[in-house]
Amino acid sequence: MQMFLDFLVPPRINGYYSYLTKPDGSHADPSASPSASSTALSILSDSPFPSTSISPSSSFASRTSLAMPAPVPSIPARVALVTGAAQGIGEAIALRLAADGLDVALNDVPCKTEQLKDLVERIKALGARAVAIPGDVTSEADVALMVKTAVEVLGGLDVMVANAGIVAMKPLLDTSAEEYDRIMAVNARGVMLCFKAAAAQMIKQGRGGRIVGACSGSGKKGISNMAAYSMSKFAVRGLTQACAAEWIRHGITVNSYAPGCILTPMLMHPDDAKNGGPASTAKLATGMPLDIPDAEPSVVAGLVSYIARPEAHFITGQTINIDGGLHFD
Ligand SMILES: NC(=O)c1ccc[n+]([C@@H]2O[C@H](COP(=O)([O-])OP(=O)(O)OC[C@H]3O[C@@H](n4cnc5c(N)ncnc54)[C@H](O)[C@@H]3O)[C@@H](O)[C@H]2O)c1
Repeated sequence: MQMFLDFLVPPRINGYYSYLTKPDGSHADPSASPSASSTALSILSDSPFPSTSISPSSSFASRTSLAMPAPVPSIPARVALVTGAAQGIGEAIALRLAADGLDVALNDVPCKTEQLKDLVERIKALGARAVAIPGDVTSEADVALMVKTAVEVLGGLDVMVANAGIVAMKPLLDTSAEEYDRIMAVNARGVMLCFKAAAAQMIKQGRGGRIVGACSGSGKKGISNMAAYSMSKFAVRGLTQACAAEWIRHGITVNSYAPGCILTPMLMHPDDAKNGGPASTAKLATGMPLDIPDAEPSVVAGLVSYIARPEAHFITGQTINIDGGLHFD
């Protein structure tokens, strides 16, 4: 596997996440922590002067100096690994997690290495560290190396987003066994390998974690002309539930997102202009009305941002619809 180890910015104070993360990955109660803000508030409330009044200068000086935030220890940022990150939903998730304060390892197939390297630069511009790790999620050795590299370069693994996926829109009668095998290999086996490698590392670290998989609305309800794809996404939903049950005692949550129509390269087609706009060819091919809602990848990234947070510790085993109301569970 070709690798690009590119991590630059110095260690940061990452107060938000380190502050909220307990060793078991659960949510620390900020009110129980001697945080800067609670210290400042208690000092102000002890003051003999109402906070709105003008106090003598000596008291004011002492109040303001005492109210300064206490130094926050420099704790390394949490680390995420996102597969299929070169474009579309994976790219949006990687950027969002970096903006949230995580360092991010980026995977996609080796032919998209230049896109990954570009994304590394954009993430560095956000103040996070990033590393590009090209490889194929269907290969157990590649997935093991992705996790190993993320740990060695970025310092651990706290969030796995098994996002990589492929689609074929054709009737089952026209789908070869080889096409079926390839879709299952990327969408089901690939997600399973990522879940397994991530959980092994997270259990070894002993600080919990967040595992997230890419499902689809077609993992909730079979869609015509997407039989193999629907099968692979139903598999992700089963995997999500089983792994959530297995790893809950380790403080690891396992969830998946089930998007409807998200405007990414996966759904774009050269005939879209003549068929009615972006993703129209895909909608027609799968029997969807052209006016079903669609959204930008950042919508899914926002959901993953929340699931990945320490305070989301009470959500596990879920495959969450994010489709503008197309389906209700
Ligand atoms: N776009 C949608 O409307 C939609 C809807 C439901 C579910 N999804 C799912 O969300 C995920 C992301 O979809 P997207 O729309 O961003 O697709 P996309 O095609 O734009 O991006 C998917 C990325 O995965 C990468 N990839 C494919 N095979 C890989 C492999 N073997 N190893 C590593 N990387 C590989 C591709 O190179 C690509 O960069 C997929 O799992 C997809 O099935 C998408």
